[in-house]
Amino acid sequence: MRALTTLLLLIFGLCLTTRAQAEDHPSLGSKQCQTCHQAIYEHEKASRHWLSFKEFAKGAGEAIATKAGVAKPTEAGTRCVECHGHTYLNDKGKSKVEPTSCEACHGKAGDYLTPHNVKYDAAKNGADPAAFLAKRRADSVAAGMTAQWRLNGGYRNCFNCHVGTDEPIVNGAGHPVMKEFELLAFSQGTTRHWHGEAMKQDGSGRQGAIHVAGQALTMQKALAAVGLSKDAGAYRTGYFAMAKAAGARLGELAALLPDRTELKAVIDAAAPLATLTGDDAGKCADLAKTLDPLVVTLLDKLDDTPLADDVGAKLIPANMPAK
Ligand code: HEC
Ligand code: HEC
Ligand code: HEC
Ligand code: HEC
Repeated sequence: MRALTTLLLLIFGLCLTTRAQAEDHPSLGSKQCQTCHQAIYEHEKASRHWLSFKEFAKGAGEAIATKAGVAKPTEAGTRCVECHGHTYLNDKGKSKVEPTSCEACHGKAGDYLTPHNVKYDAAKNGADPAAFLAKRRADSVAAGMTAQWRLNGGYRNCFNCHVGTDEPIVNGAGHPVMKEFELLAFSQGTTRHWHGEAMKQDGSGRQGAIHVAGQALTMQKALAAVGLSKDAGAYRTGYFAMAKAAGARLGELAALLPDRTELKAVIDAAAPLATLTGDDAGKCADLAKTLDPLVVTLLDKLDDTPLADDVGAKLIPANMPAK
């Protein structure tokens, strides 16, 4: 059945566009990853991402779901499981829901498992294991894997769930405004799977870069959220305050990074934020659109020209809690 589905998708995909350009890939579920990544799988089962699925629809969550008109919040197709769960197709081609897991962050695996599942073999792959790894990653990303290690890849992806744009569930149903997300704090703890030497906290240069990227993304995404709002209310007020705070923090960071012209470009373009209010939803939407490509450039530069550890160390907020 999966082979048939894949074939149909392939034919359909070829009619519309080439396979490589097709946006969506079949999702297989985390059991597929467990086969080879058992330790990470066990770790994930104890993470907030996993546990949330079992808890979010009870108590206060049940009341939110009822007010939002969602009768079965843990089932496929509801708004809730877009963030609190993960929908995949099982062997029989049926939609199933599991907790927020591997593919939510690493990408839907239906097309990348094959290029991903190749092991280095000096006889076949040449004498350069690093080049082999880079190619394996590039081929996997081309087939739908998220470049989790890139700021403009996996780190940017966090914001799809952590800065939500569903105004009715906030204003009408009482869902919290998702305004606590701080990329550095949230990415240095459990999210890294706490697995193996290489998965310890990042060095201070990288941490500084993640903090800068997080503030820029927060400002841009929160403005886009305000831009989509229709009403005054907790959603608009919350996200506008979030955009303002991130903009102010970004100004402080720019003063410590005078050589980073891509950061200055973001700050200059964000100048109108000083005089806007949350009620200027249209203008917030326009500003978010202007900022989007500039933020992407900033993220790419931070990845490609890393910050030195002594520079990064000055950017990290004091008492940063690693969640
Ligand atoms: C058949 C075995 C196999 C399966 C199945 C598998 N992986 Fe991997 N994966 C590997 C190997 C081998 C590595 C390389 C480990 C190393 O370099 O030490 C790896 C590395 C990775 C990396 C690090 C980046 C990279 O490409 O080196 C990520 C992220 C990853 N896997 C995610 C996943 C996810 C998500 C799934 C499920 C959709 C999955 N893997 C399924 C074998 C597998
Ligand atoms: C856009 C993504 C998104 C959607 C859609 C979403 N949530 Fe959430 N939800 C979150 C995030 C992220 C949090 C964590 C709190 C925060 O960031 O402030 C959260 C927190 C919660 C909480 C607070 C308690 C807890 O588990 O920490 C409840 C209850 C909840 N959500 C229920 C729901 C219900 C019910 C729905 C569907 C009507 C829903 N959510 C839809 C992302 C989402
Ligand atoms: C909340 C997002 C998230 C989820 C869910 C998630 N990962 Fe990851 N994963 C990350 C991040 C972040 C990194 C570190 C990326 C970096 O900076 O190099 C990572 C790194 C990895 C790596 C490479 C490093 C290593 O430890 O070998 C593998 C393999 C991996 N994840 C597999 C998995 C598997 C399997 C699952 C599901 C059981 C999973 N991940 C679930 C975010 C996630
Ligand atoms: C598919 C949606 C989704 C994605 C993608 C996602 N998250 Fe989450 N995350 C959630 C939800 C929902 C919660 C709330 C869980 C709960 O009820 O407490 C959460 C909670 C967390 C928590 C626990 C916070 C706490 O208070 O203990 C951390 C840390 C976190 N996310 C980090 C990340 C990072 C870093 C990324 C990107 C690498 C990411 N998440 C990507 C949906 C997502």
